[in-house]
Amino acid sequence: MKLRVGILGATGMVGQRFIEQLNDHPWFSVEALLASKRSAGSRYSDVAKWYLESRIPSDIAEMTVEGMDPRIADGLDIVFSAIPSDIAKEVEGGFAEHVPVFSNTSTYRMEEDIPLMIPEVNPDHFKLVEAQREKRGWNGFIVTNPNCTTIGFIIPLKPILDSFGVSWVHVSTMQALSGAGYAGVPSMAILDNVIPFIKNEEEKVEVEALKLLGKLRQNRIEFADFYVFSSCHRVMVRDGHTEAVFVQTDEDFELEDIKKALSSFRGEPQRLGLPSAPENPVIVMEEEDRPQPVLDRGLGGGMSVSVGRIRKKRERLLKFVCLSHNTVRGAAGASVLNAELARARKLI
Ligand SMILES: NC(=O)c1ccc[n+]([C@@H]2O[C@H](COP(=O)([O-])OP(=O)(O)OC[C@H]3O[C@@H](n4cnc5c(N)ncnc54)[C@H](OP(=O)(O)O)[C@@H]3O)[C@@H](O)[C@H]2O)c1
Repeated sequence: MKLRVGILGATGMVGQRFIEQLNDHPWFSVEALLASKRSAGSRYSDVAKWYLESRIPSDIAEMTVEGMDPRIADGLDIVFSAIPSDIAKEVEGGFAEHVPVFSNTSTYRMEEDIPLMIPEVNPDHFKLVEAQREKRGWNGFIVTNPNCTTIGFIIPLKPILDSFGVSWVHVSTMQALSGAGYAGVPSMAILDNVIPFIKNEEEKVEVEALKLLGKLRQNRIEFADFYVFSSCHRVMVRDGHTEAVFVQTDEDFELEDIKKALSSFRGEPQRLGLPSAPENPVIVMEEEDRPQPVLDRGLGGGMSVSVGRIRKKRERLLKFVCLSHNTVRGAAGASVLNAELARARKLI
């Protein structure tokens, strides 16, 4: 029997991607759509500003949107969350008292007992859930996925770290408009423009990276021990974050070995054959002008990270460009993959 799912923030950019990812999902069935008071009580298709190229699934279009009432959790097995961070503490915590919550929101990401997960990168961090339940007395739990910018470069960085070590990383981003939410950036501010500031983004990227690549030691994450520097910029692209990445490795490398490490990288989702797992978490591109958002963001159903322009500048200094779909791999798809791994591990 399929697990009954609720989506918090179902009318938003990420909420819509959840609906798309969960449509005809073999394990999960969407039973509740929740949003703000503005939308509660209305038919979904009347209040969602649907921005995807696919149509709203007909059964979803007719559903009535509900408010953020944790009592709704009684009829659900899990909840996916894509709500603003300022309300997440109370709302996600309220739902986690009853059911597992898979969250896109930054609010709980850095708390010591909350797993911040990319299933290909740190599946063992799931173990934090046991201590979390004990400490908080929740029947459910919260598992988070990283910021859409962090996830794009951490997936390719993982096989590089494992094979060559990392001394420092610098990432300079070109981030899509959908990353700011539907009402995010006014059109007159971004048309013909680049905005070299995204509030709190650089701080999130720099700290989340070290938790994700940290080691689990007795119910605590020991953060990875290298520097991450970032510079984040909003560009006039609809979907897909492009990132220029510079890595100083610990050991010297041959370019061919880097490419091999990236293209052969597989994680637990691939070994378990999870429904949303892309065959290749990283796709290496040899063309001199790729990856590009319009051409490559949909690869692997939006779940693969494309990596190109792989260059060696000098001994131990690597440069590459990566691209990931910010509302799929960077948000809804990431949460769904976390939930699939939890299901495969019988945590739900
Ligand atoms: N966009 C991305 O690429 C991305 C990636 C990773 C993480 N995230 C995170 O995911 C979350 C959602 O982002 P988004 O881009 O989907 O934002 P969005 O398009 O602005 O959608 C926000 C959603 O939250 C609901 N909401 C807003 N205020 C609320 C309130 N006071 N009470 C209850 N519900 C409320 C909205 O409902 P109404 O329609 O009724 O207003 C809508 O469903 C944010 O925390 C964001 O940082 C986004």
